[in-house]
Amino acid sequence: MGKMAAASDVNANAKASSYEAYMSRVGNEKIPCYEPSLGDDEIKLLTDVIRRNWLSESKYTREFESRLAVLCERKHALAFSNATAALIVGMKSLGIGPGDEVIVQSFTHPADPNSIAATGATAVFADVDEKTLCLSVKTIEAAMTKKTKAILYVDLYGNSGDIAAVADYAKKNNLFLVNDCAAALRSSCNGRQVASFGDFAVLSFFADKTITTGEGGMLLTDSPALLAECNIYKHDGRKERGVDLIERKGFNFRITELQSAVGVAQLGKLSYFIKIKKEILREYQQRLSEVREVSVFRFSPDCDAVPHRVVIFVPDAAALISYLTPLGVGVRTTFMPMHSQPVYKVRKEFPVTEKLYATGVCLPSAPTLTGDRISFICTAIADFYSKGGGK
Ligand SMILES: Cc1ncc(COP(=O)(O)O)c(C=O)c1O
Repeated sequence: MGKMAAASDVNANAKASSYEAYMSRVGNEKIPCYEPSLGDDEIKLLTDVIRRNWLSESKYTREFESRLAVLCERKHALAFSNATAALIVGMKSLGIGPGDEVIVQSFTHPADPNSIAATGATAVFADVDEKTLCLSVKTIEAAMTKKTKAILYVDLYGNSGDIAAVADYAKKNNLFLVNDCAAALRSSCNGRQVASFGDFAVLSFFADKTITTGEGGMLLTDSPALLAECNIYKHDGRKERGVDLIERKGFNFRITELQSAVGVAQLGKLSYFIKIKKEILREYQQRLSEVREVSVFRFSPDCDAVPHRVVIFVPDAAALISYLTPLGVGVRTTFMPMHSQPVYKVRKEFPVTEKLYATGVCLPSAPTLTGDRISFICTAIADFYSKGGGK
C-alpha cells in the first residue's frame, strides 16, 4: 500500500511538473501562437446572462445556433460542449457503432479517432494528399473494406481541397460522410460553404478557433430526423429537459448560456477576424518568399479558405522550433500522426503524413499579431537559414 502510494505520488508529481513546464513555456512566449480576442461586447452579453440568472442553454444558445446554421448554409444547428462531443453524438445518431469502420486521416487532431472509438467503431487511418493536407478519393480507396460505414473528412487548418469529390464518392458507395469543420468556419469551395457538405458537420469554438467560447462546439445538418436523435443523445438520453424517461444511453454534452453569449458577441466580429487572418497569411507569404528553405502552405485554389493556422514546411521542423522557442515565438508542430500514437498504433506506413509532421511548423497567427511581430518572426527564420539552418 505504502509503495503504491509512493508510485502514484511520483506519477502525480511528474504530471504536475510536465504541466507546469508547458504552462511556463506558453507563459514565456512573447508572441503567442494564438490568443482569443475578447472585449466589451462579450462582457456586455455575459453581464446580461448573469443578471438574468439562467446559466444553462437559453436564448443566446438558440441565437448562436440559428445564426451559425445560416452562415454555414445548413437547415439545423445544435450546440455542444465541444466539437468532440458533437462528433460522438452525430456518429452514434447515424447508427455508427461496434463492427463498423470509419476512414479518417492519420494527420489530424485526436478528437477524430477518439470520437470514432467512443461510438464503438474502429478508426481506419488513411494518408492525405500533400497538396490539400486532407483525404482524397485515392487515399480513401486504399483504406476501404467491406466494413467501411463512413468517411470522416477533416478540413485541416481550414482547407478542404477535394470535399466535393469525396462527397460524390461517399454517395456512390453508400457511405456516411462526417465533416470535421472544427477549424473551417466560413471556408468555402467553389462558392459553397464547406460546412454544408456531409450528413453532418461540426465546428469547434476552442480558444484558438476563428471565433471562440473557450470550449464549445456545433453540429450542423439538413436532416430533422438526425437533429432529433442528436438532441436526445446530447440531453442525457431524454427527448426534452424536464422529461424523466430516458430513450437512449445518452450524455450531458450541453454548452452553457455564458459560452453561447460569448459566441454571439464573437459572431459580430467574424468578418473582421476572417479579414485579418487572410491578411496575416499574405504578409507571411510575402516576407518568407525569399527564404528558399521555407514554403508557406497554400490553400487549395478552388477554395476561399479561412486559414486556421499559418503552416510552413521546412527541411527539419524540430530544428526550427528549437531555434524560435527561446526567442519567445509561440511555434507548434503540426499534428502528430495518429497511427503512431501508442493507443492507435498500426503497422502501416503513411509517407505523406509522416513527411508533413517532420517538416511542418505552425507560426503565430492570432488576430492581435502586428506587422512588426510578423517581421520579427520572418527575420528570425531567415537568419536561421542564412546561418546554416541547424546543420
Ligand atoms: C481538426 C479538429 N477536429 C476536432 C477538434 C476538437 O475540437 P474540440 O476541442 O472543440 O472538441 C479540433 C480542435 O482543435 C480540431 O482542430
